[in-house]
Amino acid sequence: MKKLLSYELREKYLKFFEQNGHKIIPSASLIPENDPSVLFTTAGMHPLVPYLLGQKHPYGQRLTDVQKCVRTGDIDEVGDATHCTFFEMLGNWSLGDYFKKESITFSFKFLTEVLEIPVDKLAVTVFAGDEDCPRDTFAASVWEELGIKNICYLSKEHNWWYAGATGPCGSDTEIFVDTGVAPSCENSNPGNDPDKWVEIWNNVFMEFNRTADGKFEPLKQKNVDTGMGLERTICMINGYKSVYETDLFSDIIEKIAQLSGKPYGEDEQSTRAMRIIADHIRTATFLMGDEKGIVPSNVDQGYVLRRLIRRSVRFARQINVDSKELVTISKMYIDKYKKYYPELEQNESKVLEELAKEEEKFSKTLENGIKELEKVLTYMKNGVLNGKTAFRLYDTFGFPIEMTQEICKEKGYEVDLEGYKVAEAEHIKKSQAGAEQKFKGGLADSSEQTTYLHTATHLLLGSLQKLLSKDIHQKGSNITAERLRFDFNFDRPLTEEEKKMIEDNVNKAIKEDVKVVCEEMTVEQAREAGAEGVFGSKYGDIVKVYTMGDYDKEICGGPHAEHTGQLGEFKIIKEQSSSAGIRRIKAVIDTSKAISK
Ligand code: ALA
Repeated sequence: MKKLLSYELREKYLKFFEQNGHKIIPSASLIPENDPSVLFTTAGMHPLVPYLLGQKHPYGQRLTDVQKCVRTGDIDEVGDATHCTFFEMLGNWSLGDYFKKESITFSFKFLTEVLEIPVDKLAVTVFAGDEDCPRDTFAASVWEELGIKNICYLSKEHNWWYAGATGPCGSDTEIFVDTGVAPSCENSNPGNDPDKWVEIWNNVFMEFNRTADGKFEPLKQKNVDTGMGLERTICMINGYKSVYETDLFSDIIEKIAQLSGKPYGEDEQSTRAMRIIADHIRTATFLMGDEKGIVPSNVDQGYVLRRLIRRSVRFARQINVDSKELVTISKMYIDKYKKYYPELEQNESKVLEELAKEEEKFSKTLENGIKELEKVLTYMKNGVLNGKTAFRLYDTFGFPIEMTQEICKEKGYEVDLEGYKVAEAEHIKKSQAGAEQKFKGGLADSSEQTTYLHTATHLLLGSLQKLLSKDIHQKGSNITAERLRFDFNFDRPLTEEEKKMIEDNVNKAIKEDVKVVCEEMTVEQAREAGAEGVFGSKYGDIVKVYTMGDYDKEICGGPHAEHTGQLGEFKIIKEQSSSAGIRRIKAVIDTSKAISK
């Protein structure tokens, strides 16, 4: 039978939903905007949170897309058949439009009519019900009417989807396909036979907002949020054993095998190493090549990126691949994906340079670090590596703690993580770096405070452009309930006078209590109107432009204050380097001084 290729699935999916009244929207960045609760975009719905909460989307109530996603929670599982740290999620949404019946029917039709999967190869799970939400007999009855026989009810743990600790959520129905292996038990179903049934699609009925105190409040509108993993679906439909056999990976795996001089699949250890390299370098390429691309560092997203690259270097060494060749693999990914993600090609030189730099830095110390670790382990009597040594490996040889743990585990040792944290805390105290409080608040933290801080971010950028250079642009933004953090390109520290001038200009805008005006227009119109924005693949045809008098005009999804006067008083608390050529400002607002409500 003809094999289904990744581009075919992408195109079939978007076309099907477009024909059913959905507007195709572009993939958002992997780096979430103004969302302190997550490091990366982990699902298609993340960039849509404001719209799930009730804001009007410029494209209407039915949307569809292919969203690039990164999830690193299961990084240790990578190397098995299906776990990937980067993946593409095919999604369709109803923002207060259709609900369960139509959503289930769309999924059923797409799978059975477009992809031609036989009905008896499908099974579903639905929500079993509890005190927050009743048993979903309705979804089950829709599936039944369509001809699905294998339906099982599962608890919240399985059939409920949360965007984050707080925010939009709801029960879901998950769709599984038969892997073809013999059933392991009688009445084999997705709840009792995970080897036979693999999930490919999740339809979430988002009708609740989870509050910080754990309550489920009904949302203004009932939404549908679905997500189908591209890699996994291609793998299942083609009857492959792992995602690495799909066209998304097969040539890359072949290249790694060729570089190592060992055929792929020869033994478990080298198969795993090849898969890890293929997975991690793809993720690293997408993170560095993103429209808001990041570089390796010791904090936040940059740290995850660093871990991915350093882990690839270690596994390359394990299978005798010169780690300099990781750049070749990254380049293969850029060529493979650039048609769908043109930002990769635009950022190609940066991606390859940063990767080469990080590889060089780490491969220099890796050898010595491993020698050191092996030496130390010979006199660790109790099977535990002490925290101080683990920290020294990080500080001196650049071993991320997770890597030290992994190497120790391979050799039958544990690491005293508590001790590591103590050593790290002492180090931080000594260098007076001060640990930053991160990831507070919920995903859909559209509280007044974060909304106002977001508005302050716009005024800050407008002021930087007016007073320092019109070539300054946003390179990153992160907002918690306490402060804003804004990264921008500028090649030197700001002087005290400049900081004061910027601060004064923002406060002037606030005192004038300018109205924050939101208009919808085409990207072209926005560009002509002089709106700030990354003009590229990121936006759809219609965008929202927020204008704050003469102070700022930006393309942005919002939300924002209605008047600048609501912000109170703006204060810069820190200005520092973020990475080469990038400065970082942290600032706060004191809303108790607000002049308008
Ligand atoms: N947001 C849902 C998921 O990621 C569709 O599974």
